[in-house]
Amino acid sequence: MTHRTRMRLTLTPQHASPAPTLPAPLTLETVQIADAPALAELMFAAYQGTTDFEAGSTVQDAAEEVAHLLAGEYGEFQAQFSQVVWDGEKAVAAVLITLHESRPLLAFSMTRPDYKRRGLARLALLYSVAALAQAGATHLDLVVTDGNAPAEGLYRQLGFLPL
Ligand SMILES: CC(C)(COP(=O)(O)OP(=O)(O)OC[C@H]1O[C@@H](n2cnc3c(N)ncnc32)[C@H](O)[C@@H]1OP(=O)(O)O)[C@@H](O)C(=O)NCCC(=O)NCCS
Repeated sequence: MTHRTRMRLTLTPQHASPAPTLPAPLTLETVQIADAPALAELMFAAYQGTTDFEAGSTVQDAAEEVAHLLAGEYGEFQAQFSQVVWDGEKAVAAVLITLHESRPLLAFSMTRPDYKRRGLARLALLYSVAALAQAGATHLDLVVTDGNAPAEGLYRQLGFLPL
């Protein structure tokens, strides 16, 4: 049976400082609703072969997941706190934030396989955290599947603690 752990980052004034810049030619933008197809394609690629990948799922399933997210199924989607890293027209990493039961929630973080381990999820998350801290948020919560080592490593490195 799959176990998931809830984690929380307590935001401090230091979190409001700008995050490091992105290596060119990559760019970072807040999410637009028109990004949905690019996000679905990214989601499908990022989860392939990982702990959270559902065998047999398709890019269409990822598109439905993104549609659910944008429609508020995981809490009201917070476009202004959600970040996408672009390599030209290709979305290569993203951090997607909602407001769940009045608390900011990291609903998804994902990086395309050939862009993993370059610090892109960390950088996008630092930008989301900075925007949240600047807006006066005090916490960012998330839920991670036990054994998802890359995600657990990322979240621990940024100071998230199990609840
Ligand atoms: C989790 C995920 C978003 C990380 O993306 P990434 O861009 O490769 O992460 P980063 O390069 O920013 O890594 C930041 C830190 O996370 C940890 N980390 C990332 N990948 C790791 C791995 N394969 N093994 C162990 N730790 C890892 C490390 O501490 C890393 O810092 P370091 O490279 O300085 O050691 C990516 O692996 C992914 O898309 N996974 C599939 C989707 C998923 O499971 N998302 C999380 C669900 S909530």
